[in-house]
Amino acid sequence: MTRDDLHLHVRGESSFIDDLPSPAGTLHAAVLGSPVARGAITRLDVAAALRCADVERVLTAADIPGENQIGAILPDEPLLAAGTVHHVGQPVAVVLARTAAAARRARREIGLEIAEARPVLDPREAAAKGQLLQPARTFAIGDVEAAWGQCAHVVTGRVDSGAQEHFYLETQGALAVPLENGTLRVHSATQSPTGVQKVVARVLGLPMHAIEVDVRRLGGAFGGKEDQATPWAVMCALGCVVTGRPVRLTLDRHDDLRMTGKRHPYSSDYRIGVDAEGRILAYEVTFYQNSGSAADLSTSILERSLFHATGSYAIANVRATGLACRTNLPPFTAFRGFGGPQAMFVLEAAIAAAARRLGVPAREVQRRNLLREGTVFPFGMVAEDCRAQRCWDEADRRYGFSALAAAAAAHNAAHAATKKGVAVMPVCFGISFTNTALNQARALVHVYQDGSVNVSTGAVEMGQGVNLKLRKIVAETLGIGLARVRVESTSTGRVANTSPTAASTGADMNGAAARMACLQILHRLRPLAAARLGSDTCAGASADVAWSQLVQAAYLARIDLSAHAHYATPDLAFDRAKEKGRPFAYHVYGAAVTEVTLDCLRGTATVDAVRVVHDLGRSLDLATDLGQVEGALAQGLGWMLLEEARYDDRGRLLHDTAGKYKVPDVRFAPATVDVAFLADADNARAVLGSKAVGEPPFMYGIGAYFALREAILAARPDLDPEVVAPLTPERTLMWLAAAPAPVVPA
Ligand code: HPA
Ligand code: MOS
Repeated sequence: MTRDDLHLHVRGESSFIDDLPSPAGTLHAAVLGSPVARGAITRLDVAAALRCADVERVLTAADIPGENQIGAILPDEPLLAAGTVHHVGQPVAVVLARTAAAARRARREIGLEIAEARPVLDPREAAAKGQLLQPARTFAIGDVEAAWGQCAHVVTGRVDSGAQEHFYLETQGALAVPLENGTLRVHSATQSPTGVQKVVARVLGLPMHAIEVDVRRLGGAFGGKEDQATPWAVMCALGCVVTGRPVRLTLDRHDDLRMTGKRHPYSSDYRIGVDAEGRILAYEVTFYQNSGSAADLSTSILERSLFHATGSYAIANVRATGLACRTNLPPFTAFRGFGGPQAMFVLEAAIAAAARRLGVPAREVQRRNLLREGTVFPFGMVAEDCRAQRCWDEADRRYGFSALAAAAAAHNAAHAATKKGVAVMPVCFGISFTNTALNQARALVHVYQDGSVNVSTGAVEMGQGVNLKLRKIVAETLGIGLARVRVESTSTGRVANTSPTAASTGADMNGAAARMACLQILHRLRPLAAARLGSDTCAGASADVAWSQLVQAAYLARIDLSAHAHYATPDLAFDRAKEKGRPFAYHVYGAAVTEVTLDCLRGTATVDAVRVVHDLGRSLDLATDLGQVEGALAQGLGWMLLEEARYDDRGRLLHDTAGKYKVPDVRFAPATVDVAFLADADNARAVLGSKAVGEPPFMYGIGAYFALREAILAARPDLDPEVVAPLTPERTLMWLAAAPAPVVPA
């Protein structure tokens, strides 16, 4: 949470979509979702719903004036089902009524009949049937086939990771208001204002200039509103155009859980080869991504998995293949890490298995293979200003990996009912959108006559603190006090063609654009400052007082006090035909050591401590960045140990209420979380020496999985538990109670 918004949040004064006052005549929407995962619609009768009290209209696909298509990457997702349905909860009709309760009541009266077909839920089954969103993609370097023969050990295995709910506090929603002459303003809880604008235009058959999308802030998003905020906004806009009245929609938690996509489950096969010293000579992996029923951002997410297949390690011979598998579950979508965590989890499982085969601690294999300056990634980029080693060594120096492991071993020797495990998790995460075109941002800065400053960018505030960072960048650049700077809502009318606030790049790119706009204004003011104030700089505290006078003088001299700037991240290129290039501006590094205690009778585990050394560059705001590291870590731990998303064999979500899904809470949080930031770590490739922070710390959570696995193996050294996440107490207990396994011959 930004400290900017903090006082508003605690007083309940911050305004989210559902807090916006309803303009006169506003209608409330309720969405009817398909009750079955796959089938053909045989009857859709809205007459009874229309007869319900307070109902104004029921929208179906037939009401769409433009294209019934919301797919951002592939055109494979209708706004409202037409003919067939492909997942449970897929929107079929929208009731518009004078109250939300009336809309929900009437929704039950819609006559919907579907001839049900057997759904495909498993990505491997989908792949076997050829249900792929695109041909398989492979990133390769070296020669894996030649390398296997040189390995002392070759280990193969399978790894599965599950879906994860975003569980943003503010559910999906929008309010669309008709303006004069066929134009619309849409208030949307979206990370991607332009994405919403574009799809509203497409579905309504309007030019983009007829639609303004405005976002004040989001009550959390985590990727869940990068693409999947769009349909609800478009439904409101459609309702607006059909009825001529404002339309609002806020999903209740039940609908949000059932209808929206989550982090992609992956099922993967790996083969890893090491020499006798634990050097990784070759690594081969195939990712079966469960993409869900429509592409959404899946292909982009799979691409990021391929970019992160080698994690924080230098591996000379690699072949990583990704399959985006179409199934009958709601389209899976962006979630903090964006396919990176799924890929890194597989490699850590492979390393743990190889280390066990070698009879050494996993951290020995990890350390021996860390990325170095000049390492070439499988996609051709060279690691520059590589801090993998530095973060690892600093964490080891501060926290003492061997001492922690020795303490756990001593505990395990002395205790039967509890076991401890320790694991280290190094992180290397590429910063930039993998889709090169998205790496651009713009800012519009106005200086008013009293010296106060108003900043607009494409960045959306969602609790990550981007507005505070923008204010600090602007204040520092202009040399004025923070209180003079305000950040406007994010509006497509003020800043056009925004990239989603995503890929951890919000502050990087929008901050850089804001700084460029400020520098333009300073450039215009400088001669005046030199003449009037005997100084050519506006920096410093005394200048803050002079600032108002300078601005006033500039206005009287008819100097432009507004500026617009455009930033395009430099030196990016990627060739998808060759699968080579330089897709990232830079990487973020870090290392974490995690200690876990397992209760062998209950199967429950406590994460005792996570101790981190993280590379922030030069922090734009330490408290904000610390909050990001801690929050991402908590989500990563939840994904690995706690949050189990389950569907039944007909594709129905089993955890369809808040009470059935465990999110990490304060009691689950580790008793100790130490976060040290790498010192003297200015980054030449982002604004004011900073580094992006949102996503990379999520992957520290992976350490907890392997720490717990160590603890389980301390209790049951005869086992070789399959690697399936989350490692819940139920799953742990099943392993602890498993029949003794025959020892696998080496
Ligand atoms: N593209 C889009 N969204 C993202 C990305 C990306 O590369 N990474 C994380 N969120
Ligand atoms: Mo994306 S997971 O919204 O950064």
